[in-house]
Amino acid sequence: MTVHARIIGTGSYLPARILTNAELETRIDTTSAWIEERTGIRQRHLAADGELTSDLALRAAERALEASGMEAGDIGLIVVATTTPDRVFPSTACVLQAKLGIINACPAFDVQAVCSGFVYALSVAHQFIRSGQVESALVVGAETLSRITDWTDRSNCILWGDGAGAVVLRAADTPGIVATHLHADGRYQDLLFVDGGVSLKKEGACYMRMSGNAVFKMAVNTLDAIVDETLEANGLGKHDIDWLVPHQANIRIIQATARKLGMGMERVVMTVDRHGNTSAASIPLALDTAVREGRIQRGELLLMEAFGGGFTWGSVLARF
Ligand code: UT7
Repeated sequence: MTVHARIIGTGSYLPARILTNAELETRIDTTSAWIEERTGIRQRHLAADGELTSDLALRAAERALEASGMEAGDIGLIVVATTTPDRVFPSTACVLQAKLGIINACPAFDVQAVCSGFVYALSVAHQFIRSGQVESALVVGAETLSRITDWTDRSNCILWGDGAGAVVLRAADTPGIVATHLHADGRYQDLLFVDGGVSLKKEGACYMRMSGNAVFKMAVNTLDAIVDETLEANGLGKHDIDWLVPHQANIRIIQATARKLGMGMERVVMTVDRHGNTSAASIPLALDTAVREGRIQRGELLLMEAFGGGFTWGSVLARF
């Protein structure tokens, strides 16, 4: 019998500090109206000094575990999607394992696919469960993007926020996760990147750099294609999808994907206005928000999709 993987619990966490557009107006040459009109963002959350990606991940994971009814010690695998790990190593997943007090020696590792990180991580965990290697998995997207944000770059710093989201997956007789589709194309590194890293040995702080408009156009076209690919590969029509749970990059990108699906915005989970773009954390944050608001119901078909640095992109089709 085929083994499937079901999402049995969701959780999320946002740091307390809120940075509004109005406050950004006092720091850089911008206006609240410009930010809201071009991105849909009204505010974002920022981690406190000393609050690490693993701390955000821990809070989100605890809430997901609580919702799932599982004990941390029974988890069979931990995958953390992040571009902003606490350290180069150990992985944030190993740090999270220790913070959760897990001593069962379950495998734990990070996945780095920038804004597509959660979709990648969910796909990896899904394969582990399907192959029978583990019976459950904790999958987390967590970021402290504020630490790699150049707060003087007005075309860039307005976008990002910090946060974490998590899901618990468990083996089941029926889907669950129906399908995952992942892609990458490394030729576009110059359009979205961090201007330093370990091997580059650049002096001083490292920041995100982005050709926003070019990335925007690529994102819209690529997400358009991944929607087609996902529907076609799974024999679905666009009206079969109950909820679009997109990566929260820009309201205009999300609206374009919703239009493609012929979907009213009332079936699209939108948190970019409150969270900004939290990269790998954005989909699990949006998912948990909609679940806790009682909008997404058991049995409904969700389409999660993301596009980000790499470029990377992908989708997860899941029956909740
Ligand atoms: O999540 C991973 C992938 N990332 C994304 O998907 C992000 C994709 N990109 C975007 O969301 C948008 O490109 C941005 C929000 C970053 C920028 O919006 P845009 O509509 O593409 O603006 P633009 O870069 O074409 O700039 C238009 C104008 C420029 O002025 P001029 O040259 O026309 O005089 C910019 O200098 O807007 C100006 N501008 C600003 N004005 C006020 C850029 N940033 C700001 C700002 N406030 N913060």
